[in-house]
Amino acid sequence: MSKIFQPLTLRGVTLKNRIVMAPMLMYAGQDDGQVNDLHLAHYAARALGGVGLITSEVVAVQPQGRISHTDLGLWHDQQIEGLARLAQLIHTCGAKCTLQLAHAGRKSMVEGDIFAPSAIPHSAQQRTPVALDLTQIEGIIQAFADAAQRAIDTGFDCLEIHAAHGYLIHEFLSPLSNTREDRYGGCEENRNRLLLEIVAAVRQVWPQDRPLIVRLSAEDKAGAGSNHIEVTARLAASLKALGVDLLGISAGGLAPTFDGAIVPGYQVPYAAQIRNEVGIPVGCNGSITSSELVESILFSESADLVYIGRELLRNPFWLLGVARNAGVEPALAIPTYARATGPYERGH
Ligand SMILES: Cc1cc2nc3c(=O)[nH]c(=O)nc-3n(C[C@H](O)[C@H](O)[C@H](O)COP(=O)(O)O)c2cc1C
Repeated sequence: MSKIFQPLTLRGVTLKNRIVMAPMLMYAGQDDGQVNDLHLAHYAARALGGVGLITSEVVAVQPQGRISHTDLGLWHDQQIEGLARLAQLIHTCGAKCTLQLAHAGRKSMVEGDIFAPSAIPHSAQQRTPVALDLTQIEGIIQAFADAAQRAIDTGFDCLEIHAAHGYLIHEFLSPLSNTREDRYGGCEENRNRLLLEIVAAVRQVWPQDRPLIVRLSAEDKAGAGSNHIEVTARLAASLKALGVDLLGISAGGLAPTFDGAIVPGYQVPYAAQIRNEVGIPVGCNGSITSSELVESILFSESADLVYIGRELLRNPFWLLGVARNAGVEPALAIPTYARATGPYERGH
């Protein structure tokens, strides 16, 4: 009996199984933020491999919000067409898809000024960011809403807001990177404000039948003064109240080093705690490569979905091996692939 191959419905979207391809930036684009053939081939391969949901890599809402000049973007109408082609291709290959919207904040490596809540660099090697003023913050909230509006026309099934891993929104959430003294800094309520305002603005334009996901770092893991799980659980409850359908629970990224052990499933307890305390569906991730671990996460109701990252870079067809071991015939866009999951039948 496998839980991996059981469907899950979020709003109007039904996933055929519980495996999600984690968002992973491929640095494969050009300066125009547009989808190219490499993106199409990369995502199509993982969709053919049978995962239920593919998450795109970061898609920047502003040019200065890119991690690098090779990122995808959705700050301009011209960027809709390529993403629409990508969503259509993923659907043809049998998976649903999530578009991950982000602003890189002080971790941006693009030329020119970079921006953050406060003028504190990510590390000694990186540039000092410009502290955003209130008009610029308003502009960023609007940029997320505008990108969400464009995302409707791309045909992506779900939208994800990247609020983890030390990028702009996470920089606002943490007291280590946010030392502002206005309504976006100081107390927990003020530090959470940017994310909550972005989610409210996005939920207003994003269709009611399409799920909204937020990715969070449950803990900063950046040493003394870090945000802890208790703070994130309270934030999760506020996100649920705003109509967020699933939280992707990760950790760290605020500092160059991770203050903790990295072992298979090391972030699962955070996901389980938020799921149980807040009563919201969660996805978990982090060095998960074995189907036994995935089954145990699902059976123990620690998470509803399991995000797999680097294992799917190594092996886009990882799930076919899992199906074979579980004796399950997975739903595949090319049914002939199932011949690789059952006993070898001679004939050709
Ligand atoms: C090459 C690479 C690029 C990544 N890019 C993103 C990204 O665009 N957005 C994001 O939220 N996480 C990103 N991540 C983090 C992954 O989604 C995931 O959390 C991390 O790889 C841990 O999961 P894993 O052990 O299954 O690989 C990236 C990771 C890798 C290895």
